[in-house]
Amino acid sequence: MNREQISRIAHANHPIKAPLDDDSVRGLLEHGVSEPDARVLDLGYGGGEWLLRALSTSPRSRAEGVDISEEALAQAREAASSRGVQERLVLHHQAAADFVSPHPFDLVLSVGATHAFGGLLPTLAAARKHLAPGGRVLVGDAFWEREPSPEAVEMLGDYTDLATTLDRVTADGWTPVHGHVSTRRELDDYEWACWGSVAAWALDHPDDPDSSQALSTAATRRSEWLRSYRDSFGFLCLVLRQTPTARA
Ligand SMILES: C[S@@+](CC[C@H](N)C(=O)[O-])C[C@H]1O[C@@H](n2cnc3c(N)ncnc32)[C@H](O)[C@@H]1O
Repeated sequence: MNREQISRIAHANHPIKAPLDDDSVRGLLEHGVSEPDARVLDLGYGGGEWLLRALSTSPRSRAEGVDISEEALAQAREAASSRGVQERLVLHHQAAADFVSPHPFDLVLSVGATHAFGGLLPTLAAARKHLAPGGRVLVGDAFWEREPSPEAVEMLGDYTDLATTLDRVTADGWTPVHGHVSTRRELDDYEWACWGSVAAWALDHPDDPDSSQALSTAATRRSEWLRSYRDSFGFLCLVLRQTPTARA
């Protein structure tokens, strides 16, 4: 069983691949989609859930997504057809950093995919290139809620605390107009949804050749979460507008 297969099972009951509940996603999209006919781009769209929700709530909007995963492409295509929004959705199968578009976007999203660009600020630099005048960026990334253990840094990467993260973003020329810090409940619900789904799949498919691998992956990942990063990991989403440059 490869990573993508595990990921598909892990997210079966949590289609947003980040620690956010439905109300938080709705609130973030309401602040991000500023016009009824907005053009929306998602860099690293996963199952396409952010785009599908934006298209469903704004019936005149159009959306595009970029992801390197074939599994993501197939899943998002299928979900778009079943929700009847496929005519307004274009999916690109490629590295997000290489994506070029003939037109700009009113909202550029990238949640849980900053590793595709090498971090938060490079993600914002990429988003800026795709942004229409007056457009918004909705970005989601980790921060350290508490001092991380060396294992947590090794496993998840190097982040800063919340205030420092905001300082870096604002110094880069962005003004936050909305934000959401994932709650303890959202963080825990996400991990339980992922590793509980994988464990349940293994128990429901005892004769599948991948069953024992899935069960041990679920146990390992649950233990890594509880022992290595549950106390230090935080997740932040920001809706950003570009800060006007001061006139001389
Ligand atoms: C944690 S998932 C987040 C998906 C989605 N944004 C969400 O919140 O549901 C990260 C996604 O980034 C994609 N990804 C990773 N590296 C990428 C790259 N270089 N270019 C495009 N997509 C990439 C992965 O395939 C995966 O679908």
